[in-house]
Amino acid sequence: MKLWDKGFEPDKMIEEFTVGQDRELDLRLAKYDVEGSMAHIRMLQTIGLLEKDELEKLLAALQDIKEIAEKGEFVIEEGVEDVHSQVEFMLTERLGDLGKKIHSGRSRNDQVLVDLKLFMRDELKKIAESVNHLFDRLQHLSEEYKDVLMPGYTHLQIAMPSSFGLWFGAYAESLADDMQLLAAAYDITNQNPLGSAAGYGSSFPLNRRMTTDLLGFADMHYNVVAAQMSRGKTERAVALAISAIASTLGHLAMDVCMWMCQNFGFVSFPDEFTTGSSIMPHKKNPDVFEIMRGKCNRLQAVPNEIALLTANLPLGYNRDLQLLKDITFPATTELIKCLDMADFMLQHIRVNRDILNDPKYNYLFTVEDVNRLALDGMPFRDAYKTIGMQVQHGEYKPTKSVHHTHEGSIGNLCTDRIAAKMRRVTERFG
Ligand code: ARG
Repeated sequence: MKLWDKGFEPDKMIEEFTVGQDRELDLRLAKYDVEGSMAHIRMLQTIGLLEKDELEKLLAALQDIKEIAEKGEFVIEEGVEDVHSQVEFMLTERLGDLGKKIHSGRSRNDQVLVDLKLFMRDELKKIAESVNHLFDRLQHLSEEYKDVLMPGYTHLQIAMPSSFGLWFGAYAESLADDMQLLAAAYDITNQNPLGSAAGYGSSFPLNRRMTTDLLGFADMHYNVVAAQMSRGKTERAVALAISAIASTLGHLAMDVCMWMCQNFGFVSFPDEFTTGSSIMPHKKNPDVFEIMRGKCNRLQAVPNEIALLTANLPLGYNRDLQLLKDITFPATTELIKCLDMADFMLQHIRVNRDILNDPKYNYLFTVEDVNRLALDGMPFRDAYKTIGMQVQHGEYKPTKSVHHTHEGSIGNLCTDRIAAKMRRVTERFG
């Protein structure tokens, strides 16, 4: 059963090799494939390629198929190549020859493109939602623990006082920046490729504005060759945004792993959120955050994978592009799982409130003391020298109080202004 049947059966091994994971991955496109077809045939009717009553019959059958897809009951039958073929076969099964009329003025090349655009648009919205949940959690924790101090490090050496307010809040604001990339990927995704057909347009007088509006795209890819080129470029933009978020999240996961280590002991989790060892009975391991770190590191390879897959392909459609699905589909799912898991775990985080009572952190306060002398009128360089010599001779006694007032510092986290930043970028997702 092939859309391109010409009276011979393709070799089984060739078939399996070329279809690859499509029959499985395409299931996620089923709903979008139907939506794309609905918009396409509404348009076909307005340009005289379908009668009104034909359109009504086709729409009803497509609606039925869409509901099957939404219930998760859509299957791509044995021997059917992909979602596009399956939908068309289901239509001809229901409506006979009428089902064969819907493909005028399009190709599977722009069909799969429009499916992917609609799919990725939804995935990006889901990612934005998960990022927002984690962002809210981090902001909440930042406020809750804003007075709890912790060591700040440079070169992984004890440096200056930091706080849990700063730490949680830092990841919140970083996510707000990553969302700028996600919103850019959304804008690139949110353009209609339908009508580019095989990649060079069609001699039918297609109304591309109409399908653009029906599918709720913000705009279209005008140039039909550019539309075809957007396969791969869209995925790449999405992957770059995913990678940015993964980098932030992987970093957070690393902090947690390190700070759960007994040598730090800054944070902990209830037992049921840790994992054990088969040999060492005392172990309570941070496997969740290790897996998260690993997954996030792997996600940062996705833009490279896409770059290599698509580098220097000849202009126009090439079957290599099919493999983009193998890379992109798991990536969005993995990222969302990691974001949601981070949100879930952080609900249960326990913060050590008296880390700085340990004398090994005394030197954190040298800069505070230098600044105090400078505020009292001593030139900064002399103040630095005074405290430096005290440290050098083992005579330094910290004044353990911290007074940071400027924007973004321990005493002035600007949580509400960071929230406003996040709100502004989130509005771009419509
Ligand atoms: N499975 C194909 C893909 O994802 C669908 C498009 C097939 N087009 C073609 N000319 N063979 O790219």
